Amino acid sequence: MEKIVSLSKRRGFIYPGSEIYGGLSGTWDWGHLGLMLKKNIENVWWRMFVEDRADMYGVDAAILMNKAVWEASGHVSGFSDPLGATRFNMMFETKIGAGEEAATSYLRPETAGGIFVNFKNTVDAYHPKLPFGIAQIGKAFRNEIAPRDFIFRVRELEQMEIEYFVRPREWESAFEEWRERALAYMETVGVPRNMVHELEVPDGDRAHYSKRTIDFEFDFPFGRKELSGLAYRTDFDLSAHAKASGQDLSYLDVATGERFVPHVIEPSFGVERMVLAVLTSAYTEDELGGEPRTYLKFNKAIAPIKAAVFPLLKNKPELVAKAREVYAILKKEGSRSAGWRIMWDDNGNIGKRYRRQDEIGTPACITIDFQTLEDDTVTVRDRDTGKQERVAISKLTEILK
Ligand code: GAP
Repeated sequence: MEKIVSLSKRRGFIYPGSEIYGGLSGTWDWGHLGLMLKKNIENVWWRMFVEDRADMYGVDAAILMNKAVWEASGHVSGFSDPLGATRFNMMFETKIGAGEEAATSYLRPETAGGIFVNFKNTVDAYHPKLPFGIAQIGKAFRNEIAPRDFIFRVRELEQMEIEYFVRPREWESAFEEWRERALAYMETVGVPRNMVHELEVPDGDRAHYSKRTIDFEFDFPFGRKELSGLAYRTDFDLSAHAKASGQDLSYLDVATGERFVPHVIEPSFGVERMVLAVLTSAYTEDELGGEPRTYLKFNKAIAPIKAAVFPLLKNKPELVAKAREVYAILKKEGSRSAGWRIMWDDNGNIGKRYRRQDEIGTPACITIDFQTLEDDTVTVRDRDTGKQERVAISKLTEILK
């Protein structure tokens, strides 16, 4: 774990929050590479669960919500941790407006709240047929008593959540489908199935709204801990919000003429925990050319940098000019096709550059050498094997794709 924390800081993935002032417990700042990794992990989620499906709708709700939302959802009375004798509510309270008129509000403790209050808007705007889901990626805040284990337990976090609305009798089959999809997503971004374990959360340990919950636990370096969750929230939230707001949150099934409050299956992922599981799974130490090395074996789809381009020597203008040409071609192509990022590196000797790229998980290193000037071929080095292949510059884009 120490090695992962140190690599994350050294290579510009994740820094302690407010560091120059001694930090702020439970907060972390994302550096350039960390941000790209996080975005890639989120984008795969959005693509698999929203864009590739016809039954999903996105929402981006405000973080500040009317406090009645959290009273109705049970968070004001029930979202607490035991502290000494008393119970301590984990929501961050804040004031909206000035002076005596100021109203108490809370920073949302889960993104789900913003989904439930937009159920009616979604139904009225898009007339979706059941089953359908609403998805949201966004920040949530929890005043954790003991933030710990790097980005595992933080006070400001990001969640990727879906509320999938179903007919009450369909909940079990929908639960099974989402269980498989959740596992498939984790595998796609580089969390191996054999490191994920399902825990059926027993009665008494589940959140107040849930009739069934599976925690997907992961073998983190500090032990087997919750990575994400899948819950059957029944009609608890929609019914509670209908009652408290006085709005009708039922659904008319045009096929049968029935009107009822849909039930909901909720797959919920914490972004920080996904990033940590991905980093942990990718972190590898091996030996290459008789030397020990550390590298991040990211799945190519989520690696923050897809390829690095080097001139063999930085003091040979003809090599640098040719390398700049190749870099420009790939960079242009990269920004056109779904945002690959290409990096330029001419610092230190070639061996050092390879090691640096290995450490940030770049799948391919492209070197422009003297032969390039004669025949327009370059070497492409594979991160995992260290093997080099000579390929024509004209084929590079295709190979990277
Ligand atoms: N809407 C359901 C919900 O919020 P949860 O189990 O409290 O359920 C869902 O949280 C996910 O959010 C967890 O599985 C975890 O990945 C992430 N999470 C929760 N609290 C966290 C914290 N303090 N730091 C980092 N991630 C957290």
